[in-house]
Amino acid sequence: MAVETIKWENGKIKMVDQTKLPLELVYVETDDINILWDSIKRLVVRGAPAIGIAAGFGVALAALKSKADKHEDLRRDIYKAIDYLAASRPTAVNLFWSLERMKRAFEKNKEKPVKELKTILFNEAQKILEDDRERCGKIGENGKGLIKNGMGILTHCNAGALATGGIGTALASIFAAAEEGKNFTVYVDETRPLLQGARLTSWELMQHNIDTILISDNMAAQVMKEGKINIVITGADRIALNGDAANKIGTYGVATLAKAHNIPFYIAAPVSTIDFSIKTGLQIPIEERGPEEITEGFGRRIAPYNIKVYNPAFDVTPFSLISGIITEKGIINPPLDDEIIKLKE
Ligand code: MRU
Repeated sequence: MAVETIKWENGKIKMVDQTKLPLELVYVETDDINILWDSIKRLVVRGAPAIGIAAGFGVALAALKSKADKHEDLRRDIYKAIDYLAASRPTAVNLFWSLERMKRAFEKNKEKPVKELKTILFNEAQKILEDDRERCGKIGENGKGLIKNGMGILTHCNAGALATGGIGTALASIFAAAEEGKNFTVYVDETRPLLQGARLTSWELMQHNIDTILISDNMAAQVMKEGKINIVITGADRIALNGDAANKIGTYGVATLAKAHNIPFYIAAPVSTIDFSIKTGLQIPIEERGPEEITEGFGRRIAPYNIKVYNPAFDVTPFSLISGIITEKGIINPPLDDEIIKLKE
């Protein structure tokens, strides 16, 4: 059973506190939108689809807590929550996709009584979660054929259940292939600086009894050269119309290495991760995070005080390095731009 990363329980949002894994499996429960915002910012809840689900519940929370009994007052409270949550993290488009969906649900039903409207918004947030669960299942089914007995698979960051409302995206195909009885080994990049691979992906794979080998990011080239990797599968945070895909920093390097070693490089992502409004990856905003993630990762100072630091949290893999994108609607292959546009919902 995959871990339930985020859900609504007893009037609150309940999320696995991913900053505490793998040592502790504990939850944050909140009905306070400020705590939710901070949880997204600090990566208590993280991964593109999970951030989108959290944002949907955040808007539902604002609706349910609103004292408004007039439409314009409820509208003001909802839009305030949407603008606030939109400022939590910039790269994963699922956040904005989800907020847009909540906005649409409000506008479509704005003639309904305020009380009913609040329930509609809550149901929409719940539906975003359920939809994602379904999409993950389909991604797993669509991608599992790429994985053959005896393969070595490399993944980067965490695109598992912890990053979604279901079984994951990149890890979905891996879980589905394991369920079919296939034997293979997953190499997990530790994923500097916040170690989502070491802390989260290794933990998830081991929960499923999958043969898992942790490597540090700078070992990928050597491991590929030794012939241990047959396929790379990662998630994505935002995909442009031409197929350029943003994902956790380091993914672009892995894709470049895969090309150099003739290893297929796949992205797995739901259609909600495609930004149909941008032509190329140049338009993807890249989150920059605090220097302390590098200079004192996990509480221990490792660099000189006052050192200048640059800490982009994501990079963009150009479409030319991507062998295919595994979606809930099937696997698309190059030319990606021709295929991506057909996925528009
Ligand atoms: O900074 P994070 O941990 O939110 O970054 C997450 C990733 O880059 C994932 O690979 C991506 O969101 C895909 S999750 C299915």
